[in-house]
Amino acid sequence: MDYQELLLRAKEARLLAYAPYSNFAVGAALLTSTGEVFTGCNIENASYGLTICAERVAVAKAVSTGFNEFQGIAIYAGGEDPVTPCGACRQVLLEFGGETDVVMGNAQGVQLIMKVKELLPEAFALGSD
Ligand code: THU
Repeated sequence: MDYQELLLRAKEARLLAYAPYSNFAVGAALLTSTGEVFTGCNIENASYGLTICAERVAVAKAVSTGFNEFQGIAIYAGGEDPVTPCGACRQVLLEFGGETDVVMGNAQGVQLIMKVKELLPEAFALGSD
C-alpha cells in the first residue's frame, strides 16, 4: 500500500472520532511491515487528560493483535495544515522503532513524511545501570 492510500485510510478513520470537547477529529492509519493496516481515531473524555490520540489507538490495536513492527503511520485531521503527532504519541511510536515513517497530509494528499526519530531527537530511553 502506498502512503497516499494510507492517508485515505486515516481520513476514513477520522469519521469515527469521538471528540465532543475539542471538536477536533483526527484519524490515523498504521501500516505494519507485513502490510496490515490498523486504524485509530481520537477518543476524548470528560476528564480531559484521559483523552487518547488517534495514533495511540492505532498502535494499541496493532500491538494487541500481535503486530509491533511498523513501516509508517498516516495522520489526518481535515484542515489545510497537516497535523503532526503530539509529544506523547512520538514517544509511543518511538518504542517500536525510530525508522517508522510519519505521513502527514491534507485533502490535497501527502504533504510531509518524516521519520519518528526525526520528530523526537534526543529521545528518552532507559539507560543501563
Ligand atoms: N489529537 C490526536 O488525536 N492526534 C494528534 O496528533 C494531535 C491531537 C487529538 C487529541 C484531542 O482529542 C484533539 O486532537 C485535540 O487536541
